[in-house]
Amino acid sequence: ASTAMMGQEAKGPKVERMTVFGAGLMGAGIAQVGAQNGLKVVLSDVTDKALENGLTIISKSLARIAKKKQPDDIEGFTKAVMKNIETTTDATKAVENADLVVEAIIESLKVKRDLFGLLDKTAKESCIFASNTSSLSVKEIAESCQAARREKFAGLHFFNPMKLVEIIRTSETSEATFQALREVTVQMKKSPVSCKDTPGFIVNRLLVPYMLEAIRMVERGEATPEDVDTAMKLGAGYPMGPFELLDFVGLDTTSYISQGWAEKAEQGLISKELVQPIPMLEEMVKEGRMGRKSGKGFYDVSHDSC
Ligand code: NAI
Repeated sequence: ASTAMMGQEAKGPKVERMTVFGAGLMGAGIAQVGAQNGLKVVLSDVTDKALENGLTIISKSLARIAKKKQPDDIEGFTKAVMKNIETTTDATKAVENADLVVEAIIESLKVKRDLFGLLDKTAKESCIFASNTSSLSVKEIAESCQAARREKFAGLHFFNPMKLVEIIRTSETSEATFQALREVTVQMKKSPVSCKDTPGFIVNRLLVPYMLEAIRMVERGEATPEDVDTAMKLGAGYPMGPFELLDFVGLDTTSYISQGWAEKAEQGLISKELVQPIPMLEEMVKEGRMGRKSGKGFYDVSHDSC
């Protein structure tokens, strides 16, 4: 009987209704994959304009998918998915029936904590809370909630449109919560991996220092961005070189992450050598050379290999 009980525990509660906070690039993408894969989704943001923006992102993306999957009835495909998405600017109403909350709002510890603190009081006891943060500590966000909720709190870090989702377990995240999140990410046709609540989780912890070292290499005059990119594509089999990737991610975002990590290094959570400041990066950001979003980074936007 105890094995059966353990089996039951390991399965985790079933998620049928998901509420996504933040209708930006990430939130819209997460709402879309949920709605496409059988979840009832509520999308919430602070203004109607932001919600409209999110719905436009979703319907454009669905039309692109329908063109491949169901070219005869693009509108039918889009409508069937959109039927699963409701929107509201009322945060309390948004979580009324939610089994899972996924937060994808701005990357600010204070704003995220304020939101979760409010939701903790209004969501059902069984509702799981997840944050899509890339660079904040999940545990520090979860501290805005009562102890009972902190067991049901984890990071759920999406890489839209790619398949990976990192599930970040804090020291308090329960096994049932982790399993429920695994199941729902698989239902959303994503591939989950599990990791602890450390700076950068898995992907960014390896990728950011690699990109930073590539900039240092160019700063020291050892190679050009073009040659480094060619070398990593042809020599290491990477689909993009580090400078193409930097332009894609945004130099401002990379600088922001490395500055956040410098603070973590002070706390001994990551080694100091990895996050040494890079004058070249800061200079480029100051000049507005952010990468693709500003039309110029290491490459001009006309550079079309990424
Ligand atoms: P975004 O700036 O496109 O969208 C953020 C949205 O959140 C905006 O629509 C804004 O109005 C809304 N918002 C702000 N405060 C809110 C509140 N209190 N309640 C409800 N909505 C609120 O940002 P993006 O790029 O979608 O990022 C969102 C989160 O996802 C951040 O935590 C970011 O670090 C994380 N992330 C971003 C990735 C990326 O490639 N952009 C990748 C993985 C994670």
